[in-house]
Amino acid sequence: MLPKRALGQTGMEVSLLGLGTVKLGRNQGVKYPKSFKIPDDKEAATLIALAKDSGINLIDTAPAYGNSEERLGTLLKGQRQDWLICTKVGEEFINGESHFDFSPEHTRRSVERSLRRLNTEVLDIVLIHSDGNDEEILQRHGTLQALAALKKAGKIRAIGMSTKTVDGGLLAAEQSDVVMITWNLQHHTEIPVADYCHQKGVGVLIKKALASGHAAPGPQPGSNTSTDPVKQCFDMMFAHPGVSSAIVGTISQKHLRSNIGAI
Ligand SMILES: NC(=O)c1ccc[n+]([C@@H]2O[C@H](COP(=O)([O-])OP(=O)(O)OC[C@H]3O[C@@H](n4cnc5c(N)ncnc54)[C@H](OP(=O)(O)O)[C@@H]3O)[C@@H](O)[C@H]2O)c1
Repeated sequence: MLPKRALGQTGMEVSLLGLGTVKLGRNQGVKYPKSFKIPDDKEAATLIALAKDSGINLIDTAPAYGNSEERLGTLLKGQRQDWLICTKVGEEFINGESHFDFSPEHTRRSVERSLRRLNTEVLDIVLIHSDGNDEEILQRHGTLQALAALKKAGKIRAIGMSTKTVDGGLLAAEQSDVVMITWNLQHHTEIPVADYCHQKGVGVLIKKALASGHAAPGPQPGSNTSTDPVKQCFDMMFAHPGVSSAIVGTISQKHLRSNIGAI
């Protein structure tokens, strides 16, 4: 079984690997190396069962991932208690295009909609889905304050931001329970955010750990060709005491098994 780590001071314990679900709901406007078919319900249920049986308890979705939230609402029926669900607010993907709305009104509507779609009374983690202007969102839009009020009302257990910049990540860490950052073999610039979150007791989730598939499975430039880049990547990030979990997006049972094996 996969080990678990504390998610900052949220009181939640998350498996070292989380399951990312972009590919369960959306195959347009994505940056993966190859095109793919969205898995049907039977394939998705098998993948989720494999993840659960291997000790994965964290699943990541967003309104911007096509119908990923609605699908999880159905797929997780009868096993809600086995999962920590992370979703987001701020990005909408409509007719093949992303639109952003970080207003408190939209934030409240989006959270209520996620609760309905995911068929649950409480969302474990809700993150602001940044468009890249992390600091502006945090300083001007009141999104995190709206999430804090929803947390106080008992609709969310932990709040934070999925950031895209170092300064934004550091600022988010001041006001969040959880920050989601990018870290992989090609992108190391956000490590200071993980360091700072660790100091402050803020949970750190990693996105794009495999560089959205561009870091796997071939050897990396300059690396020993016998080294599995997936293992290299996990060894690197789990050596950091502040990192709680890497959310890896996969719709392949074979890849899921080998990723678990690499840990
Ligand atoms: N702004 C945000 O908040 C944000 C942005 C991006 C992502 N995310 C979250 O983070 C998750 C992960 O990000 P991501 O999906 O962009 O990138 P990722 O996890 O780095 O990479 C996923 C890609 O890697 C491939 N892959 C996985 N394991 C593999 C293996 N062992 N060998 C070869 N290929 C492998 C997958 O293909 P197969 O399906 O064929 O395995 C998929 O195309 C997302 O699903 C989402 O939940 C959040």
